[in-house]
Amino acid sequence: MTKVFINGYGNIGRRLASAISGDKEIQLIGIAKYSADEKTQEAVRNHFNIYVPEEKIKEFTDKKYRVNGTVEEAVENCDIVLDAAKEGGGFLNKMKLYRPLNKPAVFQGGEDRHGKYSVADMIHNSRVNYDKASGRTYVIQGSCNVSGMGRIMQPMIEKFGEEISRFDVTLIRRWADLEDSKQVKDSIEWNPNPHHQDDVKDFIPTANLYVDAYKVPSRMMHLHQMSIRFKKKAPSKDSIIETFRKEFGIAILNSATGTAQVRKKALELGFSHGDTNMVHIHQEVVRVEEDTVKIPYSDDQTGMVIPENYLLLQSMVHKRSRQEALAKANSLFQIDYKKKALEEEFK
Ligand SMILES: NC(=O)c1ccc[n+]([C@@H]2O[C@H](COP(=O)([O-])OP(=O)(O)OC[C@H]3O[C@@H](n4cnc5c(N)ncnc54)[C@H](OP(=O)(O)O)[C@@H]3O)[C@@H](O)[C@H]2O)c1
Repeated sequence: MTKVFINGYGNIGRRLASAISGDKEIQLIGIAKYSADEKTQEAVRNHFNIYVPEEKIKEFTDKKYRVNGTVEEAVENCDIVLDAAKEGGGFLNKMKLYRPLNKPAVFQGGEDRHGKYSVADMIHNSRVNYDKASGRTYVIQGSCNVSGMGRIMQPMIEKFGEEISRFDVTLIRRWADLEDSKQVKDSIEWNPNPHHQDDVKDFIPTANLYVDAYKVPSRMMHLHQMSIRFKKKAPSKDSIIETFRKEFGIAILNSATGTAQVRKKALELGFSHGDTNMVHIHQEVVRVEEDTVKIPYSDDQTGMVIPENYLLLQSMVHKRSRQEALAKANSLFQIDYKKKALEEEFK
């Protein structure tokens, strides 16, 4: 059994914990909590062991929260850490906790790939470079936007290759997640230097890619538009859609009217955490004109990276083939079932 510790129990950490605990090959030794708040009780209800920083034990026990040990002990006892700290926290954890023990760790997409706060020398995308992560000590799992872009770009590159001259992506990102307490600001914000472009180029270095990123006042889901320019006339819409029909974690929807409808359907269908765990191409708004294809797709920001983290574990620790890992992820996350259910609902 592989012993996994999840350092952080926010939007990503709690999802990782519920997914990983369903795998019989993995022993989830516990999760870390840093604030003695009611999310601790949720973790207790879910039968997760709770580890807290040594200096906070009293604060937790004073509030009658059960504590199973310190974060330091959990790191020592596990085989690998899934770091789910808020952006930038992974770097500090690596320096303080993981590196001194040479403990392998997966970092999330909010961490830096380059510069003095870099945590790893590769970003994983299961569609592109799954095998490259095998046996590595530190790897970043690309963010939801970055994972989604790889999932759309790679099948296009494999099918049309040299015929493509460039990719332009406009990322329209949600302000906050549904369970975040922070307020949604009434503003559309731009980002002069989105990290997503360099992140994708980390695993698709040859891509002629330009990314713009905006944040809009919504909590539901991202909606992105990828424009793919061809050197000559673009392929037909049918040919584009067929490229994605059998792809893992891509649903092709026809009648959804917006991101909220997709999210609410996932909740109504009882998907765990209300996640679809995938991207959804909105077929009725895919356009092909002259040399350009426009693919609008929504991207389940919270759910998307959870199977990706799981696949990364399969590569780093179990050194499984991608096919075998996809089969395991499919069974744990019911990806094909969810894809079929969504396609049926929005046909
Ligand atoms: N939210 C998304 O949709 C999304 C999608 C893809 C990737 N990501 C990436 O995933 C990472 C986590 O995001 P999130 O949305 O889960 O953040 P979040 O909801 O703000 O949760 C962050 C968690 O970090 C914990 N924490 C505080 N100090 C810590 C430390 N030193 N080490 C470990 N954990 C610590 C906090 O614990 P307490 O609550 O106990 O204080 C909190 O639970 C970020 O890199 C983000 O960019 C997020």
